[in-house]
Amino acid sequence: MATFVIEHPLITHKLAIMRNKETKCKDFAENLKEIATLAAYEVTKDLPTKVVEVETPLMSTSTKMLAKDVILVPILRAGLGFLDGMKSVIPNAKVGHIVMKRDEETLEAKEYYANFPSTINEDMIIVLDPMLATGSSLAKALDSIKQKGAKHIKFLCLVAAPEGIKLIEQLHPDVDLYICAVDEKLNEQGYILPGLGDAGDRIFGTE
Ligand code: URA
Repeated sequence: MATFVIEHPLITHKLAIMRNKETKCKDFAENLKEIATLAAYEVTKDLPTKVVEVETPLMSTSTKMLAKDVILVPILRAGLGFLDGMKSVIPNAKVGHIVMKRDEETLEAKEYYANFPSTINEDMIIVLDPMLATGSSLAKALDSIKQKGAKHIKFLCLVAAPEGIKLIEQLHPDVDLYICAVDEKLNEQGYILPGLGDAGDRIFGTE
């Protein structure tokens, strides 16, 4: 397992637009989608390939294609903001959904709804959530996804707090983390500082 920080001037530029509190939901969502397409190249760069024979108009040749199908798993709500951008470069990707909800008694995140393609145990899973804050709900989501049979899992986020990275590295050392920016810390309410606020609210205009 490894943690990768995707540093790219275009991603940093778009993230700066998203951090600005004056940015409205249309521009916020568009920039998030564009970042997903850029980050997709990094997240998929070690996907396994297989040799295939192809007939070009001139002759036959050996070339390579993806050896595994990809399942994108947005963690709702905010993970949906990454979905279209990833789908635009992996159009054949299947999509699973997971919703986590806080149990009011234990205060721990629990799976509230999940739906995955039946091939989850053999495909490459890319879990999507723009914000990695405490890491506790991502850790539970990864538990659920593994219980359903997933073996090859990557996680993409936009902004992460050091606390969340540490927790996932401890609890899910087999999951590769791809992070566009590592911020300073969490505040007392669990928001990332400096962060960009509540990503779900900003994507869907619900603040
Ligand atoms: N989720 C968000 O959307 N923003 C944060 O800062 C932390 C968690």
